[in-house]
Amino acid sequence: MKAEILKPASFCRMAKSRVSPFLCGLIILAHFILHSAADAAAPPPIFVLGDSTADVGTNTYLSGSVVTADEPPYGIDFPHQRPTGRFSNGFNSADFLARFFGLKRSPAPFLFLLTLKPHQFRKHLLQGANFASAGAGLLDETGPRLSVIPLSQQITQFSTVKDNLTALIGPSATKELLCKSLFFISMGSNDILGYFRTNSTLQKDLFIGSLISTYSNHITNLYKLGARKFGIISVPPIGCCPSQRLVQKALNGVDGCFEPENDFALAFYTALEGLLSNISSQLPDFKYSLGNGYRMTIDVINNPVFVGFDNVDTACCGSGYLNAEGYCNLKASLCQDRRRYLFWDQFHPTKTASFLAAQILYGGPQYYVSPINFSQLKG
Ligand SMILES: *[C@@H]1O[C@H](CO)[C@@H](O)[C@H](O)[C@H]1NC(C)=O
Ligand SMILES: *[C@@H]1O[C@H](CO)[C@@H](O)[C@H](O)[C@H]1NC(C)=O
Ligand SMILES: *[C@@H]1O[C@H](CO)[C@@H](O)[C@H](O)[C@H]1NC(C)=O
Ligand SMILES: *[C@@H]1O[C@H](CO)[C@@H](O)[C@H](O)[C@H]1NC(C)=O
Repeated sequence: MKAEILKPASFCRMAKSRVSPFLCGLIILAHFILHSAADAAAPPPIFVLGDSTADVGTNTYLSGSVVTADEPPYGIDFPHQRPTGRFSNGFNSADFLARFFGLKRSPAPFLFLLTLKPHQFRKHLLQGANFASAGAGLLDETGPRLSVIPLSQQITQFSTVKDNLTALIGPSATKELLCKSLFFISMGSNDILGYFRTNSTLQKDLFIGSLISTYSNHITNLYKLGARKFGIISVPPIGCCPSQRLVQKALNGVDGCFEPENDFALAFYTALEGLLSNISSQLPDFKYSLGNGYRMTIDVINNPVFVGFDNVDTACCGSGYLNAEGYCNLKASLCQDRRRYLFWDQFHPTKTASFLAAQILYGGPQYYVSPINFSQLKG
């Protein structure tokens, strides 16, 4: 593949303008010491698209967004215990994945990059950007209007980034850079939650079909812009998150997961698997890894002790039934040991759960991530 042949050359060409060859050598040596030989190369640029599972602060830059996580105790386990807009007590899966690839954490939100001085803006762009926006979906109509950035707009923002990179390093270097860049996408949960919240009467097959054909367009658009390596995460068993267990209790009077949503999540995975396999047989050099978010999570729910959890149904932070009735904020009740909880708030995993997920996506077996794992997208 072209990108593979060009990889070392393009790294050195970019590094040369700012770093002396000697220093460049030292940096590479340090990487050899710190990481395994396989991780020796510079981290690939990472572009993250998605919803709250990958948002690292995008929504805090949207004036009037109702979907934000910028107040304590969000971020209580983040460096300096600071809320950052992540829907987690600490890092999220986008951060941990970026770390496995050699970055310090997820690239910063694109909307934050726009606030930087030109030289800082450039430095960041070469490492990637995060466009993920909590509450957003595959469909433009998912999520509160004006308050979140749907995937279509995230892709428009990426095309701006491509323009900026082109202005910075020229068209052919941009093409090379994007060839080796990783594109992580975590989307679909909010579309399915929205379907149930609005009591949609659309048939299941038709709805899943519309999600998949929309996803197909999005992925094709990214490909046309130069993206080649995709790490995609499917929808987890959203019917088992505390907020949907509350729905189950309210509708059916019993404890447990709200299974209709889980059925949609499973059907979505199967269809997505088919779509990606089709796309990869049609688009040259398209490379992908699909994480089975459903299986990864349901296995933890069915076998919590195996990963050191003792609570997989209650939100660590919240109030009321399963801590799922009230928002997570300073007035909420907070669990004792956050490392032993699957859920941080009504919808979102804890930092520990996000780490486990990222670990499986990066280096896990085909049972959870296929046809290759994220680490194999490199090179
Ligand atoms: C990035 O590209 C967009 C679209 O071409 C342009 O409007 C914007 O000024 C550029 N930003 C920077 C910092 O170069
Ligand atoms: C959906 O149906 C539930 C249960 O019948 C009802 O309580 C709720 O108000 C409905 N929601 C909408 C948006 O129509
Ligand atoms: C994949 O391609 C096959 C054969 O062309 C087609 O029948 C199927 O519907 C496609 N699936 C998806 C999800 O695009
Ligand atoms: C997944 O990733 C690891 C680490 O990079 C690799 O050694 C392994 O072979 C991969 N596993 C599978 C089943 O492909």
